Amino acid sequence: MWGNVRGRGETPARASPTGFPELKNDTFLRAAQGEETEYTPVWCMRQAGRYLPEFRETRAAQDFFATCRSPERCCELTLQPLQRFPLDAAIIFSDILVVPQALGMEVEMVPGKGPTFPEPLKEVEDLLKLRQKVDVAAELDYVFKAITLTRHKLEGKVPLIGFSGAPWTLMSYMIEGGGSKTMAKAKAWLYRHPKASHCLLTLLTEVIVDYLVGQVAAGAQALQLFESHAGHLGPEQFAEFALPFIQSIAKQVKSKLQKDALPAVPMIVFAKDAHYALEDLAQSGYEVVGLDWTIRPQEARQRTGKSITLQGNLDPCALYAPKEKIGELVKRMVEGFGSQRYIANLGHGLYPDMSPEHVGAFVDAVHMHSRHLNKSQ
Ligand code: CP3
Repeated sequence: MWGNVRGRGETPARASPTGFPELKNDTFLRAAQGEETEYTPVWCMRQAGRYLPEFRETRAAQDFFATCRSPERCCELTLQPLQRFPLDAAIIFSDILVVPQALGMEVEMVPGKGPTFPEPLKEVEDLLKLRQKVDVAAELDYVFKAITLTRHKLEGKVPLIGFSGAPWTLMSYMIEGGGSKTMAKAKAWLYRHPKASHCLLTLLTEVIVDYLVGQVAAGAQALQLFESHAGHLGPEQFAEFALPFIQSIAKQVKSKLQKDALPAVPMIVFAKDAHYALEDLAQSGYEVVGLDWTIRPQEARQRTGKSITLQGNLDPCALYAPKEKIGELVKRMVEGFGSQRYIANLGHGLYPDMSPEHVGAFVDAVHMHSRHLNKSQ
């Protein structure tokens, strides 16, 4: 199943793979599209990650981006958490930093330090070093191959989510050259070089649109945009340097999908620490708004209205609590959001030292409490 199939019978403008196994569990897609569900679907950001011993084994002694370039390894890593837990969606194993690589930048994953750009953008003139026209089909073909392979290997168990970093988050990495506490270098660009910043964000937007459309053509059944560094911006900078590009991505992706007779897949926007923009995000063209843990479920519902699906938002550190406590916290969260138009998740990714058993307790608690809540209503 393709979710909402639009333009059936028309000749697709691009050759995309067909003949995928039929989808058996569409709960996640139904919740994303605002349809009624029997229970609340659940998945976890970074569900394919180092907290799983089998993940550490597959990744051992392998370069991170070499792993990302191997469709077979990406497929294997994507499937690992589903073999353990009854999750309702898979997310393709990859990284947001493959987009700066496609623009011609070098990025390494340094163990213990994280992503590192040996030559970050320093001056405005450095923008000229970036590829101004990116052949996404060629540069990111390995991600598309991973998605197609994984879609087959999933055997229709659950839908497959594709993703990209959002423009501001990618820009901040490209300027900072890695993680940063303050984002001072990247934010200095916004204040000193607003025009050049707009140019870079526009270039990133173009690549991201083609990249997301390509993921759907390859078999992705939903898309998530990660604006992980939204919290470093205040309301005004977010309104100028993040929101317009986030909106433009949803609009352009949807119109290209329609034009190419590809499925109209649900889109999720996750702008971490951006509650100041919650009302705007709810109207930015995405079916689902992802939330971090610093907002109350009831407040998020009040501020976003009834026509949006919310996703989130348990503090990842709650998984350090005893299992009974995780159950209580999940119960409160599900009651707060309500069991419908809701996709349970953590408020950010899992950490490497978390216990797989506690992840399982989280998933089971969502299913159990949402079924109860559905029955009692
Ligand atoms: O399971 C999934 O969620 C899918 C795979 C996924 C990864 N990265 C795998 C990964 C996704 C969706 C991402 C997105 C990503 N990458 C984001 C946005 C989400 C977020 O966390 O806010 C960001 C900011 C990145 C950049 C990045 N990649 C960081 C900060 C790190 C951690 C560095 C470290 O050493 O802790 C990575 C590496 C990375 N990406 C890992 C995984 C599983 C861990 C490193 C490894 O496997 O060796």
